Amino acid sequence: MESFIGVFDSGVGGLAVVRELKNRLPREAIIYIADSRFFPYGTKPREQVIDRAATLIQFLRGNGAKMVVVACNTASSAIFPDIQHQVDVPVLGMISAGVKSAQLATRNGRVAVLSTPGTAKSHGYLRAMALMDPTIEMIELQSQELVNLVENGTIQGQAVTDYAREVLAPARVFQADTLVLGCTHFPFLTSLLEGILGPSVKIVDPSKELAYEVALVLEKCGLATATGQPDKFFTTGDPGDFLDKAQLFLGDYVSTVEVAAV
Ligand code: DGL
Repeated sequence: MESFIGVFDSGVGGLAVVRELKNRLPREAIIYIADSRFFPYGTKPREQVIDRAATLIQFLRGNGAKMVVVACNTASSAIFPDIQHQVDVPVLGMISAGVKSAQLATRNGRVAVLSTPGTAKSHGYLRAMALMDPTIEMIELQSQELVNLVENGTIQGQAVTDYAREVLAPARVFQADTLVLGCTHFPFLTSLLEGILGPSVKIVDPSKELAYEVALVLEKCGLATATGQPDKFFTTGDPGDFLDKAQLFLGDYVSTVEVAAV
C-alpha cells in the first residue's frame, strides 16, 4: 500500500525536514533514506547527484511512497523541474520553499542564502527568486566544511563557530536582513548562527514552508492518510553510525535504521 511520505537526503540533514513534517502531519507515516555512502552531494558533479536521486526515488516508490520530498537542496537544485515529469507521484523540493520563506521574511529586500558549493554553483536560488520576486536581491554563500561538521555530529564548539563566522561575513557587508538555510544540515546550527548574526537577521528554515506545501498537496491530491504505521529509516551506509547521529539530533524518535543496498 502506498501510504508513506518518502523523504531523502545525502545524510542527516533531511532529518530537519522530517522534524517539521512530523510537527505538521503527526499522523502521516514517513519513509526516510539517507544516502550516507555517497555523502557529500555538495561537491559532487551534478550528473552524479541526479543519478543518485533517481535511484533513491525509485527505492522510495518501491517501498510504498505516495509522494517524494527531496529533503536536500543540492539534489533539489539538480533535479527540478525535470523530475516532476518523470515520477508518477508528487515530488516536492527545497528551493521554491526556501525562496517563498525568504520573500515572506525580508523587510529590506536583501537576502543571503547559505548552501553547499553544488547548490551555489547551480544558482537555483537566484533563479527561483528572480522569478518569484525580482525586486529582492540575493547573495549566495557556500560552505561544505559546515555541512561535513554537522554530518559528523558537531554542531557547537570553536571550529564550527569560526567556520560559520568566516562564511557569514559577506552577509553583513551585503546588509542582508534574512538568512536562508539553503542546506538541510544547517537547521541544526540555528542557535550557533543566531549567536553570530544577532537579532537583526532573521534565519529562515525552508522546511517549515515545505511541510506546509506537503500538507496542501496531500489534501488536494486526496493522498492524506493516517494509517498509524511506524516511520521507517534507511541508510546506504553504516546503520549504527546513522542511528547515533539521528538520536543526537532527534532523540529517541528514531530507534531502528535498516540498510538499503542501492
Ligand atoms: N543536506 C544537503 C543539502 O541540503 C546536502 C549536503 C551534502 O551532501 O553536501 O544540500
